[in-house]
Amino acid sequence: MTAINTLDTTRVNIAKSFGSASKSYDISARLQRFSGKNLMPWLPNRNDLTVLDLGCGTGFFTDLLSGSYQQVIGLDISTKMLNYAKEKRSTDITWLEGDAHKLPLKSESIDFVYSNLVIQWCDPLDVAIKEILRVLKPGGLFIFTTLVKGTLHELKSSWAQVDDDKHVIDFKNETELNTLFNSSTSVMLEHKCQDIVLEYENVLHLARELKGLGANHVPSQMNRGLAGKEKWFKMTEAYQDFLEPSGIYPATYRVYSGQVVKLND
Ligand SMILES: C[S@@+](CC[C@H](N)C(=O)[O-])C[C@H]1O[C@@H](n2cnc3c(N)ncnc32)[C@H](O)[C@@H]1O
Repeated sequence: MTAINTLDTTRVNIAKSFGSASKSYDISARLQRFSGKNLMPWLPNRNDLTVLDLGCGTGFFTDLLSGSYQQVIGLDISTKMLNYAKEKRSTDITWLEGDAHKLPLKSESIDFVYSNLVIQWCDPLDVAIKEILRVLKPGGLFIFTTLVKGTLHELKSSWAQVDDDKHVIDFKNETELNTLFNSSTSVMLEHKCQDIVLEYENVLHLARELKGLGANHVPSQMNRGLAGKEKWFKMTEAYQDFLEPSGIYPATYRVYSGQVVKLND
């Protein structure tokens, strides 16, 4: 019971963190735009399909999908993200507030699920995967991107020189993802992994972008208090090890893209 309550609190905090970023999100979303567009070649080319955009955020890609498919549903855990999306995007889209771990959708009702940079927030991930497979029709596809281990390694190792606290969320590795998706109910058809290195003027710029994306949340039980100014200063000093000759601060995002099929019973 305690474990479930802790998880619920974590998800409420994730929703709040993304919610407070809903207005700044689209300006800070250069990584999201890149990775979401990368999935386009995998999209089915029939248009009589029902599609779920899982963790749709501000609905940028939901809107693109609605131009190509018959019925498009944008689902997110954050009310504020959904409010923003409803205001800005096509009126043909159905918006749903819900949690990937307990989807408010009928079994076998969706032809394909699209999800860009969302499942790294799902914990436990196997529960969310079961839900995705439950709502997919047999033969249906799950087309997604997520972040894997190696992401923000510069920030992680800079903080590691300061204290033992968790400042960056834990990412799964590629093998863990392959194992989760290759099962008796699904198969990974294709996947790829690439490092996207974004450039920042300074560490504050990176921190602001992560905040703007709502991506600065780490589960509270592991984040023991706010890092003081002194700790922050030490961390930025350590980050200088990665400074490029041009004076740019790099941050690596290891983006995993996958195409999974739900097997017939
Ligand atoms: C990095 S944003 C990506 C948004 C969008 N897919 C895009 O490409 O711009 C992650 C989104 O996942 C949502 N999210 C996080 N955990 C979720 C969960 N358990 N169920 C549904 N949505 C979730 C957040 O509220 C946020 O809008």
